[in-house]
Amino acid sequence: MANIILDNLQSKRIITKDKSEKLLHILLRETDWMHACGGKGRCTTCKMQVLEGSENLSEITEAEKKYIKLNKLHSDERLACQVSTNGDLTIRVKKENQLPHLRYGK
Ligand code: FES
Repeated sequence: MANIILDNLQSKRIITKDKSEKLLHILLRETDWMHACGGKGRCTTCKMQVLEGSENLSEITEAEKKYIKLNKLHSDERLACQVSTNGDLTIRVKKENQLPHLRYGK
C-alpha cells in the first residue's frame, strides 16, 4: 500500500495498493491530470515534480531518458504515465502542466 500526496492540489491523499499500476491511471481516478499523448510517453504534459519518495518509483524508461537528454525532464521530475510506485510519494504539478479549471496551491 502506498500513499500518494498531491502537494499543490490541496495536499490530496491517494491510497493505492497496486504496485504495478502506472501513476497516471491512479491520478486520473482521483483528479484531472494533463496527458496530451494519452500516456504513450510522447509528450511531457503528465510530468510531475517528485518532492519525496523518488526511491520508490520504478526505473527510468526509454521515453524518460529521451526527454532527459533533451533537457525537458529534470532530475526531480518523472512522467506519470511511465512510472509506478511501491511506496509513499509526494508530488507536485509543475506550473506549465497545470489545468485551468483546477485550483493549485503555491
Ligand atoms: S501523457 Fe504524454 S508522456 Fe505521459
